[in-house]
Amino acid sequence: MFFRVGGGALVLSLIFAYVPFHGSAWIVVTARAVSAIAACYGIGMAAYMTYGSRIGKVRTRDRLLRVIPWTGSERVLDVGCGRGLMAVGAALQVPNGEVIGIDLWSAADQADNTPDAARENTRRAGVVDRVRIDTGDVRALPYEVNSFDVVLSHWVVHNLATATDRAQALREMLRVLRPDGWLILADISHQTEYIAQLHTAGITHLREERGGLESTVIGFFSGNTFRPQAIIARKPVTRF
Ligand SMILES: C[S@@+](CC[C@H](N)C(=O)[O-])C[C@H]1O[C@@H](n2cnc3c(N)ncnc32)[C@H](O)[C@@H]1O
Repeated sequence: MFFRVGGGALVLSLIFAYVPFHGSAWIVVTARAVSAIAACYGIGMAAYMTYGSRIGKVRTRDRLLRVIPWTGSERVLDVGCGRGLMAVGAALQVPNGEVIGIDLWSAADQADNTPDAARENTRRAGVVDRVRIDTGDVRALPYEVNSFDVVLSHWVVHNLATATDRAQALREMLRVLRPDGWLILADISHQTEYIAQLHTAGITHLREERGGLESTVIGFFSGNTFRPQAIIARKPVTRF
């Protein structure tokens, strides 16, 4: 989408720059400036998205996963696993463990996220033997209480339209997480809401990853609709 906006604006700015116009000078200058700014914005955002999906996401994933003191035999759940970004990263940490990726395979959120694509990525990464791909909804996870050592969610919960649904998703993740287990909740929006919901759910130990300058800049240019941040939390041993 950004490539189309940026490309269109670039064509317009070249037309305004090189085709002689005989209208009012300030209209021509304004048209040149607006189209040049739109071209820089569109192409810049498109380049960032491309970088993010190819390189940035993997770096962020690995940085987040390094927080967990892995033993190598954990049972891990990746909710909204898509094509397996987090599931593969976790599987590389647990040679004697098990990773389950679950997704609704929503066509709206990611064009070609299918169970087959996720499995193919686990095969390519050499971890297919310890990753299972399931189908299901994060709001009603088909797993036992306290059955995972680690629960991961990367850029998923914002897809749920209402705060009630997002709260339900968080409750489900905490339900299946064992006491003292780790939750990594990374998303592009709603960070403050998630923290409030986790506090309400009794989570006392959590750390915020605010995403630094990159997140602030991209948040600004996207009108705060895209601000990658993360929460790292542990489920208390008491209360649950
Ligand atoms: C932007 S993709 C992120 C995929 C993956 N976690 C990643 O970081 O590459 C969001 C994913 O969430 C899934 N999703 C959306 N709503 C869901 C729900 N209610 N339950 C399970 N998965 C859902 C979509 O199908 C999609 O695969």
